[in-house]
Amino acid sequence: PASNEATGNSRDGFTSSFGVLAATLGSAVGLGNIWKFPYVTGANGGAGFLVVYLLATLLVGLPVMIAEITLGRKAKADAVTTLRKLAPAGQWWWLVGLSGVAAAFLIMSFYTEVAAWVFAYVFKAMRGDILSSDPKVTSAAFGALISDPWQSLLWQWGVLLLIGGILVCGVAKGIEAVTKKLMPLLFILLLVICARSLLLPGAAAGLSFLFTPDWSKLSASVVLVAMGLAFFKLSIGMGTMITYGSYFRDQQNVPTTTVRVMAADLFVSMLAGIAIFPAVFSFGFQPAAGPSLLFITIPAVFASMPFGHLFMVLFFVLSAVAATGAMLSLLEVPVSVLVGRFGISRPRATVLNLLLLALVGASCALSNNVLADVKLFGMTFFDLFDYLSSNILLPLGGICICLFVGWVWGKQQLAAALSNQGTLANDKVVAVVYLLLKWITPVLIALVMLKGLGWL
Ligand code: PHE
Repeated sequence: PASNEATGNSRDGFTSSFGVLAATLGSAVGLGNIWKFPYVTGANGGAGFLVVYLLATLLVGLPVMIAEITLGRKAKADAVTTLRKLAPAGQWWWLVGLSGVAAAFLIMSFYTEVAAWVFAYVFKAMRGDILSSDPKVTSAAFGALISDPWQSLLWQWGVLLLIGGILVCGVAKGIEAVTKKLMPLLFILLLVICARSLLLPGAAAGLSFLFTPDWSKLSASVVLVAMGLAFFKLSIGMGTMITYGSYFRDQQNVPTTTVRVMAADLFVSMLAGIAIFPAVFSFGFQPAAGPSLLFITIPAVFASMPFGHLFMVLFFVLSAVAATGAMLSLLEVPVSVLVGRFGISRPRATVLNLLLLALVGASCALSNNVLADVKLFGMTFFDLFDYLSSNILLPLGGICICLFVGWVWGKQQLAAALSNQGTLANDKVVAVVYLLLKWITPVLIALVMLKGLGWL
């Protein structure tokens, strides 16, 4: 508490309401919207999946996100310290923060590799290298990139350096300043590409692919995927929102901000789907699943349309922009822990994490070439880290956060923090959030996990 007082005023943080929104939305919006959401939705039954995803977002994502931001803002500390500070002495809740650090590393490992392909594609698109309407040609181009270990590693290191360079500048001057510029740009690009896609002949087929429900595709494991996506999308269950919450201003309205971020993130996902599928169907392509949609089909689609070269460049710039805000928030988790727990300077903490990530992340950069045959549980490192984080670590982290707030921290503390010490009259909001966190959300997460993993 004494050290809290001493560091409270000088601690770096977001400086304006728009800054809070830009940074938090910057974390939520990312490759999840552009790379995961469209194909996962398309492959798992379109509108039926959307309904489940929406429920998961409202009943699980929203309360957990509110809880994390509130805890972080209350403690004004990194993810590990926050739980240490707010839990009664001698209890082990800080391990939840530590598991968040581990999850951040796992996610960063594969995320920076997908981002690496995206950044490489910005340049390839500009030079016209991937400008072919023949999927065989674009497929060969993608294959050449990912099967080359050095290109995979070097682009990943480049991405890491970029993110590290921004983080070294600090929270206000780095994260906030950059996301404030990038988020508006992202919306403009997305709207332009959406308009282009919707104006193509035959766009309706793409919309019906995305929005026609196929309930037969729903199963327990698909529900788990939907919930995992909700966690991944909102950057929750692993300390990111605790960390960002600690940079929130005291007068910020947490429930309102959270709902705005969630709604805007949903909007971006929808727009991404609308930007991609109508164009894919308009030119008679098959919507492939996984990375090939973004890196093989999309270039061929753009190459088929008038001014396609320009739109292809814009599309990959958009993806790079989205990925940047998310990676900043991922890396900030371990950086802030090193600074907060060990008193290391921010630049030093950043460099240490970059070095460690270059090592761990290499397992994913090499998953499509040197290590392609190395499989655990039938998955490459890349797929394993992706599966493990979204479907296991983040939901487990989410359960712990719910239990902590519902049963340990308690309603009084939550009410005081959520109402900004009584200055906001939001008793009903607090009551609903508390009810969800204490009884409903953790049970839902546990059931979906057990069923989805086949243990029930
Ligand atoms: N929310 C980001 C996305 O959808 C990914 C992310 C997950 C970022 C976890 C931070 C923490 O792309």
